[in-house]
Amino acid sequence: MDIQRHSTAWTAMSKADIVQHIISEYHCAHRVQLAELLAQSVELGNRVANTGHWPHEFHSILLKLYEDLLEHMLREEQILFPLILSNEFGRLYNEKGLALHNHDHHLHMLDQLAVMSSELAQIEPSGLLDAETQALSSAFRALLSHFSSELRTHIGLENDYLFID
Ligand SMILES: [Fe+2]
Ligand SMILES: [Fe+2]
Repeated sequence: MDIQRHSTAWTAMSKADIVQHIISEYHCAHRVQLAELLAQSVELGNRVANTGHWPHEFHSILLKLYEDLLEHMLREEQILFPLILSNEFGRLYNEKGLALHNHDHHLHMLDQLAVMSSELAQIEPSGLLDAETQALSSAFRALLSHFSSELRTHIGLENDYLFID
């Protein structure tokens, strides 16, 4: 969803509805997308490693993002979102600060993954990969691109509409 195009709609929505939308549209989807991306990166890494062109740290950054994001989303669901909905301002300030810090870190990891995805794209037409590995690489990059776009929208929605007073 294009958050800019729908900014009026978000402003008009209650925070309870935005929370519900975030959990159902993004938190649930990200858990599935990241598990799939990790599985694909293991298989792809095994296939591409022997060419010497598998981007260094691709899998480890994906794994770190998976672990961090799962912990972050669970903390939002169990602590931050209930605080926002109950207007408990005391603890809310610190929890929001932590979440915003996490968001910056996650966006940084998405930037790193985008660079690695570009490196991978460059070797696809090189003839170093067999046809099946090329197809896996292309599918992996497409899923990573979709996930990254969704996570950026998710973070923007929280930062710009849910976390504001
Ligand atoms: Fe979230
Ligand atoms: Fe978040």
